[in-house]
Amino acid sequence: MQDLVQRTWSPRCRWHVGDVAWGRYAIPGAAAGFRTALWSDGDQVLGWGWAEVPGFLSWAVDPTRPDVATEVVAWFESVAECTERTTTVLQPEAHLVDALAAAGYSPDRAAPYFVHHHRALDDVEEPQLPDGFRLRHVEPGQSAARAAVHRAGWSDFGSRVSAESYAEVMAAWPYRPDLDWVVETDDGEWVASALGWLDDHNAVGLIEPVGCAPAYRRLGLARAANLAVLQAFRDAGAASALVGPRGDEAYPVPARLYRSIGFAPGARTVTYRRTG
Ligand SMILES: CC(C)(COP(=O)(O)OP(=O)(O)OC[C@H]1O[C@@H](n2cnc3c(N)ncnc32)[C@H](O)[C@@H]1OP(=O)(O)O)[C@@H](O)C(=O)NCCC(=O)NCCS
Repeated sequence: MQDLVQRTWSPRCRWHVGDVAWGRYAIPGAAAGFRTALWSDGDQVLGWGWAEVPGFLSWAVDPTRPDVATEVVAWFESVAECTERTTTVLQPEAHLVDALAAAGYSPDRAAPYFVHHHRALDDVEEPQLPDGFRLRHVEPGQSAARAAVHRAGWSDFGSRVSAESYAEVMAAWPYRPDLDWVVETDDGEWVASALGWLDDHNAVGLIEPVGCAPAYRRLGLARAANLAVLQAFRDAGAASALVGPRGDEAYPVPARLYRSIGFAPGARTVTYRRTG
């Protein structure tokens, strides 16, 4: 799956190698609901479908092979277990949009959406922290503490990320502890985090996910953790960075954070739906 994503990546693609790894491993037990199929020509993967039953499709297809997109949708229709099926694509992925339209899917204009944001890395500002906090990157073996700070940051939503599932994330390619940053208090408590993923072939880093514990918000901690990841990306050879916050007005705060550190909006996602 990641081979295809890396081989065909551009700012017009929904997936980066990092969010494939995060999506596959972060949620304990989620894999029991995954159905996955690959289309290939020899050693080269041309497309994949990743259904989360009962009815959500993630997918990627080589843009030069729209015929494979048609096959992925047909496969998804055969494995979905409900009458309402949904999928999300990035708006410029015309080969996916065409296959969805041909199969009777319609855009859901009311659904929440995400906007990819990009920035160059040649001039990354120094992270600043209030007194009493410091930045550090994660070390191998620290999955329990790392999962705990993720859960604290995402407590508004009830995250299920566990020490065990975070250990799987850490074991997945292309995870690197030097791209996984946290903010620590003087007491040694981890209170904010930002995880970076480097696609070294395309020299682009993805930040996914980011969080700050509610009691420590609005102190600049998430901004500092993100800047630390951006500096680590640059030091590791990346030329640009990507992050994908919500774009709809129902959840505007993360996009404000990223725009405050130099990210600019690019393409948005669109949810497609078919009922019946
Ligand atoms: C989004 C989140 C990470 C921000 O963490 P934070 O440490 O409070 O953010 P910072 O203090 O570094 O804020 C940096 C900038 O982001 C913007 N921002 C952050 N929180 C904001 C809010 N509640 N309202 C408006 N703007 C906000 C501001 O521009 C802020 O700069 P300023 O304080 O100088 O005005 C935090 O709210 C969180 O963990 N939310 C739940 C998880 C989540 O949504 N993660 C991001 C998913 S992509």
